[in-house]
Amino acid sequence: MRIQSRRRAARIAAACCIVLLAGLHTAWAQHPGEAAYDKVCVTCHGPQGSGGLAPALAPMSYDADYVLAIVREGFGQMPPISARELSDDEVYQLVEYLAAPGAAAAGGGQAAAEPEHPDLSGIWQALNAASWNLEAHNAEDGVPAGLSVVVGETIPYRDDALAQRRQNFENRMTDDPVRQCFLPGVPRIMYMPFPFQIIQTPDHMVMTFEFAHAVRIIYTDGSPHPLPNDFWMGDSRGRWEGDTMVINTTYFNGQTWFDASGNYHSNQLNVEERLTPRGEDHILYEATIEDPEVFTRPWTIRMPLYRRLEENLQILDYDCVDFFLDSLIER
Ligand code: HEC
Repeated sequence: MRIQSRRRAARIAAACCIVLLAGLHTAWAQHPGEAAYDKVCVTCHGPQGSGGLAPALAPMSYDADYVLAIVREGFGQMPPISARELSDDEVYQLVEYLAAPGAAAAGGGQAAAEPEHPDLSGIWQALNAASWNLEAHNAEDGVPAGLSVVVGETIPYRDDALAQRRQNFENRMTDDPVRQCFLPGVPRIMYMPFPFQIIQTPDHMVMTFEFAHAVRIIYTDGSPHPLPNDFWMGDSRGRWEGDTMVINTTYFNGQTWFDASGNYHSNQLNVEERLTPRGEDHILYEATIEDPEVFTRPWTIRMPLYRRLEENLQILDYDCVDFFLDSLIER
């Protein structure tokens, strides 16, 4: 017991030194009380008064004058803090801040709390040959050659998954789900050679695709994935990390491919996409693929998306099913 309390005293003494150092650099938090709190109290009482070496102070229920008395006179192992380190006004402000530090952190209880996010609205398109084959490939009749969009060049298939890919490739003209007009799934829809439009609102992002009227609705309101279900396009939930829209998509039906060359996945697929604006007219698009049934480890594709700049541009109509039915009749 005694050793413990001596250790605690030593830690608090050390914290006092840190407090002096911390006092030297000016805090620039938004709520004036937050700045005062971060200048002196945070070292012992933890971020936003959540507790640490010393007890939690938030949400503060003490009367401001009572706190001022504790600050000036000290309290048990808490050293007194002079008016030179922290003025009376600063103490009053930090008491106000500690009443609701979360709200204060989001803008000092003053102006709008929503941080500004980039606006990705517009019509975009990938310009590469990934839709035919994610990996490097030669040109064929109707197929442009392309370099790999896979980070590290090749897709890390499990040994027991390669036979299926080979079979997919051999039968690609008939077995590719997209040739039968099924929805392409994610991420394939993102780099098909068709434009798509992003419409962004505060709580969701809609992507409408020219190919087969496909639509993705990406909820960005903090809601979780719903109960497990089988979706052609998966279920998408997005969040902002700085300027990057991070979209997690899961609950796929396992019947889509990544490209027209038979690169495939199971229904265990999980896709994490990252859309980062790189200037007005470019988005860096990345998608990390996880599927332990087919791959030995997660892997990532990376490519730019370009803003389509034509005037009067709009998403037109590629009615896949119509063409497919026609082709059946011709056979
Ligand atoms: C060097 C560490 C340290 C610093 C800096 C510090 N405190 Fe404390 N404070 C303590 C400790 C330790 C206690 C608990 C004392 C005890 O129980 O013996 C305490 C207790 C308190 C209490 C009483 C809590 C209760 O539940 O009764 C208040 C109020 C308080 N501090 C406010 C502040 C404010 C406001 C600041 C900043 C101006 C501050 N403290 C800075 C260490 C510190």
